[in-house]
Amino acid sequence: MTEPLPTGPAGSTTEVVDRVRETGAVAILRLREHGSDVAVGQALLRGGLVVMEVTLDHPDGVDSLRRLAAELPEPALVGAGTVTTVAQVTAAAEAGARFCVSPHTDPVVIAAALDAGLEPLPGAATPTEVAAARAAGARLIKLFPAGPLGLGYLRALRGPFHDVTFVPTGGIRHDEVDGWLRGGAVAVGLGSDLVPPRPGAADLSGIEERARTVARLVRVARTPED
Ligand code: 3PG
Repeated sequence: MTEPLPTGPAGSTTEVVDRVRETGAVAILRLREHGSDVAVGQALLRGGLVVMEVTLDHPDGVDSLRRLAAELPEPALVGAGTVTTVAQVTAAAEAGARFCVSPHTDPVVIAAALDAGLEPLPGAATPTEVAAARAAGARLIKLFPAGPLGLGYLRALRGPFHDVTFVPTGGIRHDEVDGWLRGGAVAVGLGSDLVPPRPGAADLSGIEERARTVARLVRVARTPED
């Protein structure tokens, strides 16, 4: 059962929010070697995961993001991750990102993303941070670090914040996605358990297989129980 989306800033598009919600997962490429980045993106697409985040915490991150945004076919949706400065927002937008993920909530970064036409996905761990992220205009909130906080923490947050679209991220295994979605997450962020930091040709079939498992568990989680 999906809830109506919160209203976004005037003139903004819900396309990114809708696609994140439909896919149920954000695949995070936190790469230390980027030579196979497009092949990784293609493997994720074959497995059914169309939303991908390239983290900018590496000098090659922006170029990698640009390659993925240019070379992956529809319905791929590529964004930037670990965005902590306005300059990174600008670089991400110029490279073709559609969304901007941060580990924390900084209203200045959120405003810059919205101004650049990117959907912000700020990280938040506490009720105060969730409220601040929402007040700054975020419609998708990355609960971070979700794994150590646990599913019970998400459920408790969703008491007062039942209308917030949470994307729990950090320390989540690809084969436990269904539990988080049933617990109220809109989608889940998956990093190192899905894509290794130095992927090579030998890793592509495993990445595709794990992506396929995630896509299947998203469908399972959304199948009404008897
Ligand atoms: C990250 O920091 O890359 C994300 O939070 C994902 O973390 P993970 O590798 O624990 O999934």
